[in-house]
Amino acid sequence: MSKERDRIIIFDTTLRDGEQSPGATLNGDEKLTIARSLYRLGVDVIEAGFPYSSVGDFEAVKSIAETVGTADGPTICALARAREQDIKAAGEAIAPAAKGRIHTFLATSDIHLKYKLKKTREEVLEIIPKMVGYAKTFTDDVEFSAEDAGRSDHEFLYQVVESAIAAGATTINIPDTVGYTTPEEFGALIRGLKENVPNIEQAIISVHGHNDLGLAVANFLSAIQNGARQLECTINGIGERAGNAALEELVMALHVRRQFYNPFLGREPESEEPLTSINTKEIYKTSRLVSNLTGMPIQPNKAIVGANAFAHESGIHQDGVLKNKQTYEIMDAESIGWTSNQIILGKHSGRNAFGSRLRDLGYEFTETELNKAFLRFKDLADKKKVVTDWDLEAIVNDETQHA
Ligand code: KIV
Ligand code: ZN
Repeated sequence: MSKERDRIIIFDTTLRDGEQSPGATLNGDEKLTIARSLYRLGVDVIEAGFPYSSVGDFEAVKSIAETVGTADGPTICALARAREQDIKAAGEAIAPAAKGRIHTFLATSDIHLKYKLKKTREEVLEIIPKMVGYAKTFTDDVEFSAEDAGRSDHEFLYQVVESAIAAGATTINIPDTVGYTTPEEFGALIRGLKENVPNIEQAIISVHGHNDLGLAVANFLSAIQNGARQLECTINGIGERAGNAALEELVMALHVRRQFYNPFLGREPESEEPLTSINTKEIYKTSRLVSNLTGMPIQPNKAIVGANAFAHESGIHQDGVLKNKQTYEIMDAESIGWTSNQIILGKHSGRNAFGSRLRDLGYEFTETELNKAFLRFKDLADKKKVVTDWDLEAIVNDETQHA
């Protein structure tokens, strides 16, 4: 039987770092819809936004805290720079959640200190315990991130982490903010913290990574093997610039290659032991929902959720798969909730099949909304042989915009 502490914590930042993707802005209702889907997916922490950045984001985080932040639901987290006004806004926004977290951050690399913050290392070491202490006046659950840790001096980082933990930080996040490190370096950075920070066992080590060199997921797998326990990731890997580590890639890598857990657990995982809290069957639905609401298409060859991820084109591959799927497939499409026996929707389809397909795609709707969308569908089905998922999503999105 797996214990909570034997699990990797999945911290989803689709609604914060993911929303920072150029053009991916979401309104409050859209954020709430995605938060509900993340709840069904089973993430442990939802980073719902950056409340000080706008009134809209404050309200969105608060409403997610009120509705999704139930006692049996995920922890609702809000981002704050290491400044009092940011922390206060974050604290107020997460207040309605049964489990609320403030995530405060300050850069620690010399490049950021010199050009962005215009502060010395000594000043940074003074600010961190003060701001972590201030965040503790709102909640016991405080995460501190050393922004640009991947390019920070290791000895200085050890001092920063020790002082954040001494001030009460319960999670220490190590971001590779610019996606610069390699798996070997990132693993060594986490190992260095374990070996050189005297109070490190009092906090959970988390990792956050960007994909500028396409290495974020590989870096995280190396981090887990060296002592990291929380992974910060986004659906479809969306996020600043080249994006963040993709949740679906991490979760399925851990699912398919369970030996990644051995160093983490200090033993072989049992065969059915759930090693994350994720319900993998919700992955495909959540991925489509996020793509639709953010307007960020998924590249066809995207791992796990791309349209071609389970498609076989060449005769040799098709022949192999027909004989035994394992010849060219390392996981089942069904394991991520991608149904292979798709009902084809056309002009003869009824309202139930239509509604059920929309629910499979992650949409929630009232009877009235369903009826209106169904009329649009029938109209389209008269003109097209087969109505695809893309057509359905276009109908629903159009209906929502004109509601
Ligand atoms: O990339 C980064 O460093 C961040 C921090 C705010 C955690 O997003
Ligand atoms: Zn980031």
